[in-house]
Amino acid sequence: MGKIVKVGVIGLGPNGRQHLASYQNHPGAEVVAVCDVDESLVKEVAKQHNIANTYTDLSILEQRDIDMVAVCAPNPFHGEYTIRVLETGKHVFVEKPMALEIESVERIVELHRETHLEVMTGLIRRFNPLSQLVKHLIDEGILGEIFYVESDYIHDLRGYRHLENPFGSDGIHPLDILRWYVGDVVEVQAYSNKKIWPEIKDPTTVAIYKFKSGCIGKVTVTWVPIGTQTHGARVFGSKATVVNDRICLPGTNEFISLPVENIAGHPYNPEDIHFIDCLIQGKEPLINCLEGAKSTVACLLVKDAIKERKPIVIPQFEE
Ligand SMILES: NC(=O)c1ccc[n+]([C@@H]2O[C@H](COP(=O)([O-])OP(=O)(O)OC[C@H]3O[C@@H](n4cnc5c(N)ncnc54)[C@H](O)[C@@H]3O)[C@@H](O)[C@H]2O)c1
Repeated sequence: MGKIVKVGVIGLGPNGRQHLASYQNHPGAEVVAVCDVDESLVKEVAKQHNIANTYTDLSILEQRDIDMVAVCAPNPFHGEYTIRVLETGKHVFVEKPMALEIESVERIVELHRETHLEVMTGLIRRFNPLSQLVKHLIDEGILGEIFYVESDYIHDLRGYRHLENPFGSDGIHPLDILRWYVGDVVEVQAYSNKKIWPEIKDPTTVAIYKFKSGCIGKVTVTWVPIGTQTHGARVFGSKATVVNDRICLPGTNEFISLPVENIAGHPYNPEDIHFIDCLIQGKEPLINCLEGAKSTVACLLVKDAIKERKPIVIPQFEE
């Protein structure tokens, strides 16, 4: 890879435009092509950022000088597009989830293993300084043995235009942060209802996970709350409890603030800088292909757990 990573961005909605802006601000990256099915949008974005090459379909992948493609199109395209990008020999950043089909995830892992191209999924909560501090406290043993964890995605998305698979789309943020803290998950059970917003499938879902370590965890997704919440996490260890950005140490029964910033929004910039730096330095990203695949599959299986009304064993990827 040359010193400058040449990037193509597919999907220029609010998400794709944010990633594009952070790549443009990285001295080691240059966005050389953009693609969106909306031709007027693609022209407008290209003009605004002075990008020479515009596309409205996957012929963007034929542009030979592109090193990495960011797939920021809607969820149903993630799997197919990531596979196509890898088949043309380019690295991929794919927004979460990696795919909506387990077969696509498996194919992506297979292609990654064959080609050694990097595939990083946009599991952005790992770039929040609060998440990083909690991870550090766990790894240093300060929380002791972790026996129970919870996290959620509580966000009023009524009116949002992508209506497929709420847990597969957004449960991945809380599930991934718990997996990062505690390790792999082996089994899931789940319940859902559609009391509010019955027009879509499973707008409110709770999933219970069993971790390989023996820890158990709960992940809630609801797209219909009154009042969106900052997406927190609660971690219960034998030596301390963390509830969002507060910690309780033994013998105090008092929660005190952790000395760190909790970014309420999306830290796109650190996420994008990290991936570009990894490509330049030839390092594996924090969310490597398997990490993205494992979190995606663990969330996609929630649909099966609801439908079959029984715990579902989560298949393990070989390291
Ligand atoms: N990581 C996060 O925190 C986070 C936050 C927001 C969105 N996202 C993800 O980012 C993706 C995009 O989100 P958004 O809010 O920008 O969506 P959006 O619908 O607002 O924008 C998507 C863009 O993709 C274009 N598009 C649609 N079909 C396409 C296709 N087949 N090929 C190329 N372009 C196509 C649309 O014209 C639109 O401009 C979604 O997958 C979403 O899950 C992630």
